[in-house]
Amino acid sequence: MFVQIKDLCFSYGKENTIQNFNLSINQGQIVSILGESGSGKSTVLRLLCGLETPNRGEISIGGDVMTDDRRFVLPEKRGIGMVFQDYALFPHMTVAENIQFGLKGYGRKAKKQRTDEVLELVNMTTLAKRYPHELSGGQQQRIALARALAPKPSLLLLDEPFSNLDADLQIKIRSELKEIIKQTGTTSIFVTHDREDSKAIADRIITMRDGSAYDWDSICTIKSEFPEEQWTTVQ
Ligand SMILES: Nc1ncnc2c1ncn2[C@@H]1O[C@H](COP(=O)(O)OP(=O)(O)O)[C@@H](O)[C@H]1O
Ligand SMILES: [Mg+2]
Repeated sequence: MFVQIKDLCFSYGKENTIQNFNLSINQGQIVSILGESGSGKSTVLRLLCGLETPNRGEISIGGDVMTDDRRFVLPEKRGIGMVFQDYALFPHMTVAENIQFGLKGYGRKAKKQRTDEVLELVNMTTLAKRYPHELSGGQQQRIALARALAPKPSLLLLDEPFSNLDADLQIKIRSELKEIIKQTGTTSIFVTHDREDSKAIADRIITMRDGSAYDWDSICTIKSEFPEEQWTTVQ
């Protein structure tokens, strides 16, 4: 398994936000975490990229331990790419400069080449010199994705990336996003509260309840019609 999360527990205060969370992901797979607001989805992503330290449990990526009871790999050393809901592009940098920002170890020529590659990937080559405020929401979203993919991350995390887009654009970008990620073969975790987003993008959907992960396929689409005993815990 490429990503392994074992018995992860975490609390901000007294109550456990994440409680014995287990999840294994194959290389190249896109997994969606589908859950209501406040269910702990963003917290799982924060733990994965090292912005929070778990109280207990283990996370490994590509066979390397990121965190367990003895070890903690710093966020910048984890090789994880992130796309947030608000794109978080640097406003004073052009599209190309935004993308190059993450390419620290690259020489000048390699930087330019990789920037061109990812701009082509997201179909935005003509906009390299623009500033973020000169782009539509959908275009900003694609640049944020290009920036996250540029350093060839081992794992890509996307936290509700469509929340700021209008409904029509959301539908268009859904299928685009899947295609782009699949072209790169990047293992990805996509967090959303929108079931249609999950269905359109994910190879596998899991959901969260009381801080743990459950396979969505084992749950009826209308939760109340389905007895909880039949939910199966994720392996
Ligand atoms: N920095 C924080 N300090 C204290 N509580 C937090 C913090 N961030 C999130 N929480 C709480 O943790 C729970 C899970 O939050 P979050 O992971 O953001 O959920 P989701 O992304 O599913 O909406 C919520 O009850 C939220 O209020
Ligand atoms: Mg969230």
